[in-house]
Amino acid sequence: MVNKKEIARRRTFAIVSHPDAGKTTLTEKLLLYGGAIQIAGAVKSNKIQKTATSDWMEIERQRGISVATSVMGFEYRDTKINILDTPGHQDFAEDTFRTLTAVDSVIVVIDVAKGVEPQTEKLVKVCRMRKTPIMVFINKLDRPGKDAFELLDEIEKKLNLKVTPLSWPIGMGSTFKGVYNIYYKNLQLFSPGRQTIGESIRFDDLDNPELEDYLGDDAGILREELELVQGVYPSFQKEDYLSGEISPVFFGSALNNFGVKELLDVFIEIAPAPLGRESDKRFIEPDEEAFSGFVFKIHANMDPKHRDRIAFVRVVSGIFRRNTNYLHVRQKRMLKFSSPTAFMAQKKSVVEAVYPGDIVGLHDTGNFKIGDTLTEGEVLLFKGIPSFSPELFRYVVNADPMRSKQLAKGIDQLMDEGVAQLFTGKQSNRKIIGTVGALQFEVIQYRLEHEYNAKCRYEPITLYKTAWFISENKEQLEDFRARKRGQIALDKEGREVFLADSPFSLQMAQEKYPDIQFYFTSEF
Ligand code: G4P
Repeated sequence: MVNKKEIARRRTFAIVSHPDAGKTTLTEKLLLYGGAIQIAGAVKSNKIQKTATSDWMEIERQRGISVATSVMGFEYRDTKINILDTPGHQDFAEDTFRTLTAVDSVIVVIDVAKGVEPQTEKLVKVCRMRKTPIMVFINKLDRPGKDAFELLDEIEKKLNLKVTPLSWPIGMGSTFKGVYNIYYKNLQLFSPGRQTIGESIRFDDLDNPELEDYLGDDAGILREELELVQGVYPSFQKEDYLSGEISPVFFGSALNNFGVKELLDVFIEIAPAPLGRESDKRFIEPDEEAFSGFVFKIHANMDPKHRDRIAFVRVVSGIFRRNTNYLHVRQKRMLKFSSPTAFMAQKKSVVEAVYPGDIVGLHDTGNFKIGDTLTEGEVLLFKGIPSFSPELFRYVVNADPMRSKQLAKGIDQLMDEGVAQLFTGKQSNRKIIGTVGALQFEVIQYRLEHEYNAKCRYEPITLYKTAWFISENKEQLEDFRARKRGQIALDKEGREVFLADSPFSLQMAQEKYPDIQFYFTSEF
């Protein structure tokens, strides 16, 4: 039987932000609290530099580092915390979306001066779709930025979130004095440049004149603002947060390690323990006896001579055990793993047993693809790992006819890893690669050459979007297929997609064939 306590004490989450808002810095500070790292700067190297848009070697190097930092597990106050890293670079957004299927909650970091940025909007949209509980950390309060009320307004409008502040800033930039923690009812004073956390001062009653001793004239402003906060925002209810209805907001400065411990303390108190997941058969609860899990990420090994990979499996229920046979549901065969890896404190180590909420890394020689389900024998498939319609497209052409097998295998495996999506023209048989970012085209070319000894080149294609389509209306479907013959392709699973070359042609198709449903994510 899975020990319920083991489940209850786990928290698996991701930190998401627009690049530069402070995700890496915050992650690093959280790891410091867990004793997972000793020095600041240890996580930094994981970041794909914004400047490296076409610097291949650099990305390869960083890819290696990010295996270690893909999952950062640590213990803090008897809580097992798993932070799942998400790439900041927008060209890897799809990677991030998939990682979000493996977490139970997220912390969104927002730069106080920049407010809500485009990447934040996209990521939060995905979380909202999944009703993932969200906490917001407004960062860089040591710098001048937007007024707190204005910023909360912007968050509500642009992110479509209902918020309730659980801490409140006192001043900002050069006049930043600290925060009042509404949840714990205490005052935290900020001393610039000091990385240690001062004592928190309890203030149940803000009318207490002692507040003036600490804050001077700012005490009055704080009282007024908190009164307004109380009037404007709903009071915090844990259930509303857990159901994704309301997002608590914290203010602080990750760089100065200010407000981070409070965030972490409230987080472990209120964030959800590992949740179950929906499958095509039934809902799977984490405390079920039998093990089940799904692959949400595949990472190629750095050594090109060994084409093995690590599949990251989120344990949904039961206990995953070493050297035990499990059913690979898609392949209908049993597999066992002699060296499953756990991720603790950025170190990898072989583990005997892995609990719900945890991530286990499995060595893979090409059996897995993203979304695969493993169980103790029950035939079920976890839902919720969609592919999105890519945004950029190119024809992929074999540049070395002697090595077409290698090319096909390489493309196949890279697609399984989720690097990009492959579509094959039904009529032309031409292969089209679709990605969310331009960087992936270079990644593919580079990796095909270095890992598969195959060469490809690209040719342009005018393509706006791919849309999966289905219909009950056979007549319309047949007519559509006949008329759009040249614009229909098959995805890797053999499902039909419409290759719309412009927004107009998509709109026309939708209007002309009202009984055909067009979808822009692969799960419908
Ligand atoms: P990211 O992962 O979200 O992309 O952001 P990251 O943590 O790398 O932070 C982006 C920049 O913002 C970094 O500066 C970082 O030091 C700074 N930063 C993070 N938190 C705070 C904060 O609370 N206050 C202030 N003032 N700055 C903060 P950089 O110059 O790009 O990098 P570095 O040279 O400092 O490493």
